[in-house]
Amino acid sequence: METRRLIWLLGTIFAVIMVVQYSEIPYGSVLSSILSAGKASFAGESNSPAKNLPSNSDRVGNTTLLNGLNLTYKYALPPTISSVSTASPHNWDHNLIPPAMSVDLNIYSVHKDETDMLTKDEKGPGQSNLATSNSNSSLTALSAVSNKSEMPVLSIAQMKGLLLQSHSSPCSLPPQWSSRVDQELLYAKSEIENAPIRKNDTRLYAPLYQNVSMFIRSYEIMNKRLKVYIYKEGEKPIFHQSILEGIYASEGWFLKLLEANKQFVTEDPREAHLFYLPFSSRLLQLTLYVRNSHGRDNLIQYMKNYVDMLAVKYPFWNRTGGADHFLAACHDWAPAETRGRMLNSIRALCHADIRIGFDIGKDVSIPTTYVRSAQNPLKDIGGEPPSQRSILAFFAGNMHGYVRPILLKYWGKDPDMKIFGKMPHVKGNKNYIQHMKRSKYCICARGYAVHSPRVVESLYYECVPVIISDNYVPPFFEVLNWESFAVFILEKDIPNLKKTLLSISEDKYLEMHKRVKMVQEHFLWHTEPVKYDMFHMILHSVWYNRVFRIKST
Ligand SMILES: *[C@@H]1O[C@H](CO)[C@@H](O)[C@H](O)[C@H]1NC(C)=O
Ligand SMILES: *[C@@H]1O[C@H](CO)[C@@H](O)[C@H](O)[C@H]1NC(C)=O
Ligand SMILES: *[C@@H]1O[C@H](CO)[C@@H](O)[C@H](O)[C@H]1NC(C)=O
Ligand SMILES: *[C@@H]1O[C@H](CO)[C@@H](O)[C@H](O)[C@H]1NC(C)=O
Repeated sequence: METRRLIWLLGTIFAVIMVVQYSEIPYGSVLSSILSAGKASFAGESNSPAKNLPSNSDRVGNTTLLNGLNLTYKYALPPTISSVSTASPHNWDHNLIPPAMSVDLNIYSVHKDETDMLTKDEKGPGQSNLATSNSNSSLTALSAVSNKSEMPVLSIAQMKGLLLQSHSSPCSLPPQWSSRVDQELLYAKSEIENAPIRKNDTRLYAPLYQNVSMFIRSYEIMNKRLKVYIYKEGEKPIFHQSILEGIYASEGWFLKLLEANKQFVTEDPREAHLFYLPFSSRLLQLTLYVRNSHGRDNLIQYMKNYVDMLAVKYPFWNRTGGADHFLAACHDWAPAETRGRMLNSIRALCHADIRIGFDIGKDVSIPTTYVRSAQNPLKDIGGEPPSQRSILAFFAGNMHGYVRPILLKYWGKDPDMKIFGKMPHVKGNKNYIQHMKRSKYCICARGYAVHSPRVVESLYYECVPVIISDNYVPPFFEVLNWESFAVFILEKDIPNLKKTLLSISEDKYLEMHKRVKMVQEHFLWHTEPVKYDMFHMILHSVWYNRVFRIKST
């Protein structure tokens, strides 16, 4: 009897821990009701109780609590609030203690630079042992996932709805005074809205796009007119410097290519449609994060000071409240580093998670690319034709986050699929890449964070991506029709994964495979940018969102 009771007790404690860790709701909803009762300001105060939490579990609990809270704000208030908010509700994030850094090293072999730089804390709270440490844990985690019911998991269709809503009724404030560039943006908007119908461009295949006519017209006007001003302020290494390899490489490539660009960049800020804040979220973290400090307040403060400085020195920030300013950042902490008044600007983020404030229609989701060689970012691209793809689905990676252990638990032993944990290291990651080249579907399951380099790797190796990452906004969402070449599976539907994949007909698969090959061009880095490549697509999405959120005075 005693033993049974003890087991029951341990089980309950474990379940409670799991719920706290994996379900973001219980605290969020309790707290939000407290907050809506009028105490919302406490979260913005620097002495908030959230600040001095020492232990690991408290930290996780607190983080999820704050995330839930944010969601409440995002959904409970009319959409206008989230985009006009330079004010306090969002400042709670100053108190946010870093969650496990979700470095999603997709492969068994961690890129050397990355491993060396990571501290133990940053690798996460040891959740990676979940699958092995307790055989029931994945199941518990799964029910915890499915019990997130109070938190809306948005389907891609619902995300499209939010995008249209955001673009048709922009809530940004009208500029303080009007300028010629506003007229140009309004002209561009009307041109795009009345784009001539094109069923098939010579280059672009209509089904890949939300609206190919609008995309082509918008791209043309961007090419002809767009001017970007890059602030000269900001010291190296955090500003004006880039890392071109590793999993945060996208921000580095974008910064480097834009600074070298002659076509779009202007020296005259008065003719700029967009203002670029040339920083690297990865270098910010490497430079300023104090190991084992569990705090990133100093990073947040640093960026805040930077923007405050610009807003005093120049009239441009104040003119639009930052709505025509943008940044591109790939590190998992970037959403936190760009809070406060920067929330008004266009944030091009790899970590595009609706739950932590990614604003569809304003913010831009950019691809996470794992660049292994800066000299040759397109190495190994390509894959077997469909007939040579004998593996139904492939996944390999560290057990980061709560989703992967569930995936492994359900499908790790299935003979038709190759669902692994960390694969043994082989030079050049050959084994991993070969698997992607020979699989029909590649599983892109979230790690600690929603984004993963697997999405782009799938496209590179011509494997149809299967995205399992709730509330992740896929890259270039403004433009691409993701459901036409990728499969989306809700986290709670992992048990049905195989059934879902098998239910896709051979014809449909062949069509998706063809589309994956066609969409590839938008995800390629070129040392000299070419039409429709990744550099242009990032710039285009920023431009597109700016155009559709312009308010006339
Ligand atoms: C989640 O909900 C299901 C049914 O709604 C229930 O059976 C299960 O025990 C719940 N799990 C947790 C961890 O609360
Ligand atoms: C694409 O946009 C154009 C211009 O707004 C519109 O006329 C057309 O109906 C749209 N096409 C589709 C397929 O939505
Ligand atoms: C459009 O282009 C694609 C690829 O270039 C081709 O397969 C398709 O048949 C074309 N569709 C139409 C309607 O012309
Ligand atoms: C912009 O507004 C802030 C107050 O929000 C003010 O302190 C600053 O001086 C303004 N900048 C300029 C250039 O006027």
